[in-house]
Amino acid sequence: MRTESRIWEGIGDWEKERSRLLSVLDKVSAGILVVDGAGRVSLANEAFGKILGMERETLGGKRVEEIPLPARIRELTKKAIAGQEVEEELELTDCSHIMVHLKAGPLWEAGSGLSPAVVILEDITARRRVEMMRRDFVANISHELRTPVANVTALVDALSYGAMEEPDAAQRFLRDLEKETRRLSQLVEDLLILSRLESEEIAPQIEHVPLDSVVREVLSDKEKLARKYEVRLQQGPMEGIYLKADRRFLTVALSNLVDNAVKYNRKEGRVMVEVSRKGGELRISVSDTGIGISPEQVPRIFERFYRVDKARSRESGGTGLGLSIVKHVMELHGGRVEVRSRPGIGSTFTLVFPEEER
Ligand SMILES: Nc1ncnc2c1ncn2[C@@H]1O[C@H](COP(=O)(O)OP(=O)(O)OP(=O)(O)O)[C@@H](O)[C@H]1O
Ligand SMILES: [Mg+2]
Repeated sequence: MRTESRIWEGIGDWEKERSRLLSVLDKVSAGILVVDGAGRVSLANEAFGKILGMERETLGGKRVEEIPLPARIRELTKKAIAGQEVEEELELTDCSHIMVHLKAGPLWEAGSGLSPAVVILEDITARRRVEMMRRDFVANISHELRTPVANVTALVDALSYGAMEEPDAAQRFLRDLEKETRRLSQLVEDLLILSRLESEEIAPQIEHVPLDSVVREVLSDKEKLARKYEVRLQQGPMEGIYLKADRRFLTVALSNLVDNAVKYNRKEGRVMVEVSRKGGELRISVSDTGIGISPEQVPRIFERFYRVDKARSRESGGTGLGLSIVKHVMELHGGRVEVRSRPGIGSTFTLVFPEEER
């Protein structure tokens, strides 16, 4: 009798220990699966189910063959039960395309035969994506730098091998040189702004910004460009409207939108900057009468270096960083950018700010 009650006590203690262990393991972000020597699941933490998109409750007590594990994970689990240490990075295409790092091995040295084993899964999708983006970014920058640098080199060569003697050619080459260097410095400027926006150290300097004067400044700055493209710039009423924002970043964002609205417009087109309030939000919109953007392209235009029409954009000096800067600026202000566009008719980009408290 005494022995039996001690056994029950023991089981109770063991259950308590197990649930305590499980609640610790549930705090871990890696997925953990423990199987016994017969390949039966004795424990799975929450993250394990989550990474593979399964309910953890459906795993308990089942054999490894009975649960819908990705084939490679099942294979590696079996190897671990057989006493082997394994480690691998896997791309799981059968669930929603994630990358995992898997490490598995026997829990203790089994003298012979099968041992309980543990499988540890780490979701490395986000990390890999960041690495890939960084690689693409560097490749893109190098690519964008190559053309203007090659052009500058060629123009300097032409000048030093005789073009200086012909005033007309020299004039033209110098103009081209100026264009290329302007493009280079714009690219460097944009990269600096992007890195400043991304660095956590730079907190935005939020102040009450008089919208009217910022928009006026941006439009007057783009006047020359607008004349070149034969586009008219217009500003709706916005006197007395103040907005809580970082003035420099707001100026950069608006300037990029107006720049696009002019460059991707048509001859004798219009650009209109207006303000409205709706649902507790302040909306600054920049509309144009230009070429528009097709619906498939819209989600992509905020990506760095993305240009719908590479030739046209490059011709106008664009590198495809403008809208990614705009998006960043709005995130920094807790706002967003909205786009409405109809090919051949025009586009409206709207900066949406949470309404300022008074
Ligand atoms: N108002 C617009 N109308 C039509 N297409 C636009 C408009 N604004 C942006 N786009 C498209 O989106 C792409 C990305 O715009 P973005 O401002 O990021 O780059 P960019 O203008 O090419 O170069 P950058 O702004 O760096 O000089 C443009 O190349 C263009 O194809
Ligand atoms: Mg642009």
